[in-house]
Amino acid sequence: MNYAENILETIGNTPLVKLNTLTKELPCLVLSKYETFNPGNSVKDRMALQMIEDAEADGRLQPGGTIIEGTSGNTGMGLALAGIVKGYKCIFVMADKQSKEKIDILRAVGAEVVVCPTNVEPNDPRSYYSVSKRLGEETPNSWYVNQYDNPSNCKAHFLSTGPEIWEQTEGKVTHFVVGVGTGGTISGVGSYLKMRAKQEGKTVKVWGIDTYGSVFKKYHETGIFDENEIYPYITEGIGEDILPKNVNFSVIDGFTKVTDKDAAIYTQRLAKEEGMFLGNSAGAAVKGLLQLKEHFSKDDVVVVLFHDHGSRYVGKMFNNDWMRDRGFLDEEITIASDLIKNHDNKHLVTAQTEELVAHAIERMKTHKISQMPIKDANGIVGSLDESDLLYHFMSDKNIANKTIKEIMGKPYPIVKKQTKLEEVSKLISKANTAVLVDLENGNHHIITKYDIISAI
Ligand SMILES: Cc1ncc(COP(=O)(O)O)c(C=O)c1O
Repeated sequence: MNYAENILETIGNTPLVKLNTLTKELPCLVLSKYETFNPGNSVKDRMALQMIEDAEADGRLQPGGTIIEGTSGNTGMGLALAGIVKGYKCIFVMADKQSKEKIDILRAVGAEVVVCPTNVEPNDPRSYYSVSKRLGEETPNSWYVNQYDNPSNCKAHFLSTGPEIWEQTEGKVTHFVVGVGTGGTISGVGSYLKMRAKQEGKTVKVWGIDTYGSVFKKYHETGIFDENEIYPYITEGIGEDILPKNVNFSVIDGFTKVTDKDAAIYTQRLAKEEGMFLGNSAGAAVKGLLQLKEHFSKDDVVVVLFHDHGSRYVGKMFNNDWMRDRGFLDEEITIASDLIKNHDNKHLVTAQTEELVAHAIERMKTHKISQMPIKDANGIVGSLDESDLLYHFMSDKNIANKTIKEIMGKPYPIVKKQTKLEEVSKLISKANTAVLVDLENGNHHIITKYDIISAI
């Protein structure tokens, strides 16, 4: 009989799969190292197991101990699987920008998950780096994994992923392209491939995929850690606002940055055009590969590594409402009805002339809106927006207790569903912050400055 003793024995030996459609414009053979075949559906199973086994070997992890880690999900899954088989408890700390699916999946495999805010400095006590470190110090018999600086991360790829790629390509690989987060994958695979190629008098170029909002590319090119480059981004799994010890910049030949929009679009395209239902960093990797086109020639064998599975992104990159909200769908916006497409199923928030201003303020806060049409028994007769409120508040601090009709402005202009985008934009000005669309069923919807800006 041929079977594995436990799920951990099925980690590794993933297939190499040719890309056929998306990379047609490239002159070379492009092969993907398809890591979703690992039991936790990502490449991270490899390094999770290696980190645990190395910690067991030198006593950092003791029997019955608790594994603590800051993880965006995939490392957590690998650690959780190993924890189950080997008898450890897991506590994971995640940033709140991560998909809900990722959090739910970790809870499904028995881990405790602590969620932290994304938009704080790494050394802020609320950041996920700081919280994981603190939990590591406070929890008895615990081991803080620290995948960013833990050398077993890179070692796992040097010992398994790198040799597999070398064997599967029969030593013909000429380029390795991969998204960079902790740096474990690129550094481990990159150094193994470069070492083997050198032994045989060949070369392998190693390219990292970075994202806008991350420090890697500039640091690699200039040696400058530029804090101005750090800002929140949407792409998941790659890019950092720190320099993890696992990024070995000396084995990386160059980085290319991929936008959030391109990464999301190519994540969808991989599924629809190659039948490869993969995570967001795979989309970024393919787009990055296309950006590097001029570096490849006919006889090259380019290996791109795909980290994780699409199921973790069904509420995001595979959800067209989510994509539309971020302007990631290349839909034509030419007429008024296009501008309200992503909110036309929502109820139009209004207030009545006789209501108190306090009610309108409450409603604006609840619905997170800056303006609204005002109605009386005959229909829409006025408008109220933030600047009206502020203006009246300056001269009358008791404004909240007045009726809306005392301070409301003129009603917003009404356009037809077919009115051209240019005409709608012309109607919006400092004095007039919105336009209403006649839905031809007795109802109206609102187009705000924000909708026009989103269309841009
Ligand atoms: C989906 C995904 N892509 C890419 C990466 C980056 O891999 P590495 O940390 O080995 O650089 C990660 C790691 O967190 C990941 O989870």
